[in-house]
Amino acid sequence: MINKILGYFSHDIGIDLGTANTLVYVKGKGIVINEPSVVAINQKTQQILAIGEDARRMVGRTPAHIIATRPLVDGVVSDFEVTEQMLKYFIEKVHKESFAFFPRPRVVIGMPSGVSEVEKRAVEDATLSAGAREAFLIEEPMAAAIGSRLSVQDAQGSMIVDIGGGTTEVAVISLGGIVSSKSVRVAGDELNEDIIQFARDEFNLLLGERTAEEIKVKVGSAYPLKEKLEIAMRGRDLVTGLPKTVVVSDEQIRQALSRSVQIIVDSIKTTVEETPPELVGDIMDKGIILAGGGALLRGLDKLVKEQTKIPVHRADDPLTCVVRGTGLVLEDIETLKDVLVTTQYEKPPKV
Ligand SMILES: Nc1ncnc2c1ncn2[C@@H]1O[C@H](COP(=O)(O)OP(=O)(O)OP(=O)(O)O)[C@@H](O)[C@H]1O
Ligand SMILES: [Mg+2]
Repeated sequence: MINKILGYFSHDIGIDLGTANTLVYVKGKGIVINEPSVVAINQKTQQILAIGEDARRMVGRTPAHIIATRPLVDGVVSDFEVTEQMLKYFIEKVHKESFAFFPRPRVVIGMPSGVSEVEKRAVEDATLSAGAREAFLIEEPMAAAIGSRLSVQDAQGSMIVDIGGGTTEVAVISLGGIVSSKSVRVAGDELNEDIIQFARDEFNLLLGERTAEEIKVKVGSAYPLKEKLEIAMRGRDLVTGLPKTVVVSDEQIRQALSRSVQIIVDSIKTTVEETPPELVGDIMDKGIILAGGGALLRGLDKLVKEQTKIPVHRADDPLTCVVRGTGLVLEDIETLKDVLVTTQYEKPPKV
């Protein structure tokens, strides 16, 4: 009852706590925060110096005692305290800026599917101690599907593939639940690593992580392109230690990415194989939906289509699908309650 009354006054928020980016949606307002999931810490004092965009600017540019870390690795919380601090910062930023006099918000937060009870509990606890009045968990593929406007509660199968920074999650959804799913720890970060590895092996060239990402975004592809692309890779010569630039083609980068891309495509194929035939029929009709930043890789839709023989669509604005999904859940929490995850974590018995 109290919650109902508080609900009228607070601005509830939805959060996509991603390995690469954290996005925050405020009920009635839309997406208000979209920043990298990076925290800069002074290791001497354990003090947090910057969070989000400010911290990202420091990546690779900090003195030795300042580290810019990502508190989530492969889609899961690797550093609980820093994650909590980061959530607190984002929640407070939203809360302070617009409605300091409102009660604390209810929070719907996305987490990878198939995480353990302990991990669920960690996300829930971090959200609560970061200032949420109530925390609801939703599996990211479910949120991505809702954000892509798939009708998740019908007796109809849909397939969503969320390719983020840390993980690729493939899920078949029907009747408000995940029927089958697969999660592999190969996604955008791994593709960046592939480019770094390629530059080192082929040209003795050491690239920074941000440079690798830029190359991926500018010329990366999964399928031969109509137009040739080229880019200058700037890094350090591992032999001379001096700056060096090498021009590479989209074909070379595609080759460098191909092994990881194939792992992503294989995870989709395996999930299709494990899906009951009726649902496969539905998916044939609706197509496979690609979401997450990795969905932007050129030609990935074509490659998936070629290898699965199923039509493929890229979600609109794939980077914001999950957070928009959490937003839609907030706007209509009564109808969509069933799609949320419950934690069954049992407190250890007292001795
Ligand atoms: N145009 C693009 N082409 C290829 N990859 C891209 C493009 N734009 C963004 N990405 C990649 O998308 C990834 C980030 O996507 P997203 O924000 O969906 O991940 P996340 O939700 O933070 O991660 P996760 O879901 O694994 O926790 C990064 O690896 C980024 O390099
Ligand atoms: Mg994500």
